[in-house]
Amino acid sequence: MSHYHEFLAILTQSLTSQTFQRIIFSQYQGEEAELEKITCRPIMLQDQLKISFVYRYKTQDITKNYAIDDALSEMQSRLEDCKQINLWLSSEEVQLKRNKKRTTLTTQKVKTMQVEQTHNREKQRYVDQQQPFLQDLGITDQKAQLIPTMARKWKQINKFIEIFASAVTQIPQKSEQLHVVDFGSGKGYLTFAMYDYLQQQQLKPYITGVELRENLVEFCQNIAQKNDFNSLEFFKGDVRTYQPQALDVMVALHACDIATDFAIHCGIRLDASMIMCAPCCHKELRPQLKSPEVLAPMLSYGIHQGQQAEMITDTIRAMLLNAYGYETKVFEFVALEHTSKNKMILAIKRKNVTVPDAKIMQQIKELKALYGIKTHSLERLLLDETVDNEKLGCRC
Ligand SMILES: C[S@@+](CC[C@H](N)C(=O)[O-])C[C@H]1O[C@@H](n2cnc3c(N)ncnc32)[C@H](O)[C@@H]1O
Repeated sequence: MSHYHEFLAILTQSLTSQTFQRIIFSQYQGEEAELEKITCRPIMLQDQLKISFVYRYKTQDITKNYAIDDALSEMQSRLEDCKQINLWLSSEEVQLKRNKKRTTLTTQKVKTMQVEQTHNREKQRYVDQQQPFLQDLGITDQKAQLIPTMARKWKQINKFIEIFASAVTQIPQKSEQLHVVDFGSGKGYLTFAMYDYLQQQQLKPYITGVELRENLVEFCQNIAQKNDFNSLEFFKGDVRTYQPQALDVMVALHACDIATDFAIHCGIRLDASMIMCAPCCHKELRPQLKSPEVLAPMLSYGIHQGQQAEMITDTIRAMLLNAYGYETKVFEFVALEHTSKNKMILAIKRKNVTVPDAKIMQQIKELKALYGIKTHSLERLLLDETVDNEKLGCRC
C-alpha cells in the first residue's frame, strides 16, 4: 500500500471511529487562488457531529461545516494538492509529507497534555476556537491556542452562547435578518461570538453594538471589517439616548448600574422577542433601602445590604418584564469561580399587552413599600418619568 493510501485509510478510520481530532492541510499547491491552508476539526452543531473546515486564504478565512461523509470526500479531494498534511488522533499525530523525490509517512505519540487540551476544546463547542476573530480579540494566539489569561473570558463566552443558542430557538424570526442590539458592547467579546454563532446557523444576523467609549468602538469596528462581518456594526452611543428603529433581541451584558434599566426599557418599548441581560454594579437601590424591622439583624452586615439591594433590583426588573408580557428567568450564568458578575435575566416575549399586569404591579408596590424604596429606574422609564442618571457611565 502506498503512503498516500495508508494515510487515507487512517483518516477514514479516525472519522468513523471518532478518534479524529484535527487535520491541517498545508503548503497548498492546487489551483485555488490565494488558498494557503485548511484546518478541520470536529464540532457539535445542534447535537450533530460535523467537521468544521477553515479555509485560510491570503486575506480572509472562510468556514464551512460538513457532515462526516462529505467531510471525508472534501478531505480526499484536497490530499493531492498539499505537500504536507498533519492529522491528530486521540493519541498520535500522523504526517504525510511530499517533495519532488518521495513521500513520507510518519507517526508519533501525542503527549497526554495535548490530548487533554483537545478534549477541553471540544467541550467549548458553541464557539470555534479556530475562528480568526478570536485572535483579533486577543483570546487566542496565532496558533489558535487559548491565551491562558483569557481562560475565564473564554468560559464565559461559551456559556453565554450556549444560553443564547437555546433561547434563540424559542423566538419567532420576524424578518429576514435577526436584529440584535448589544448595549454596552465593550470590547465586543460576546457581540462577535453572537454574530459568529448566528452566522454559522444561517440565521442571518444583523448586530449593532452600542458603546460609550470611542476607542472600543473603533477597535471592534476594525475587527468586524477585517473578518468581513458585514452585518455587524458598532456605534459610539449612549444607552440612554440610542434609539434603534426596531430589534428582535436586546442584549445588555454587564451594562453598568441603571444602564441595564435603559436597555431593558428599550427592549420592552420596541417589543423585543427576547431580552437578555447580565446586570452589573447595582448602585441605585442600596442608599434607599430601609430595613424591615425583622430583617434588621441580617441587614446590619454591609455585605448583606449589597446582596439584598442587588436581589431586589433584579427582582423588580424581572417582575416588570413579566408584567409586560415576558416569561422571565433569573439564574446563574457562569459558576462563581469564573466571575463575580454571574447573574442572567432572560426574558422571552409570550404575549402582547397594552396595560401591564395589575396584580404584578401591585406586588411591586408592596415590595417597594416593605423596603422603603422610592424609585426604581426601569419602573420610572416604563411610566415615561424622567430618571436621574447622573452617575451612569461607570466603567467598571
Ligand atoms: C463591564 S463592560 C461589559 C462589556 C461587554 N458587554 C461584556 O460583557 O464583555 C460595560 C461596558 O458598558 C459601557 N457603558 C457604560 N455606560 C454606558 C452607556 N451609558 N451607554 C453605552 N455604553 C455604556 C462601558 O463603557 C463598558 O464598555
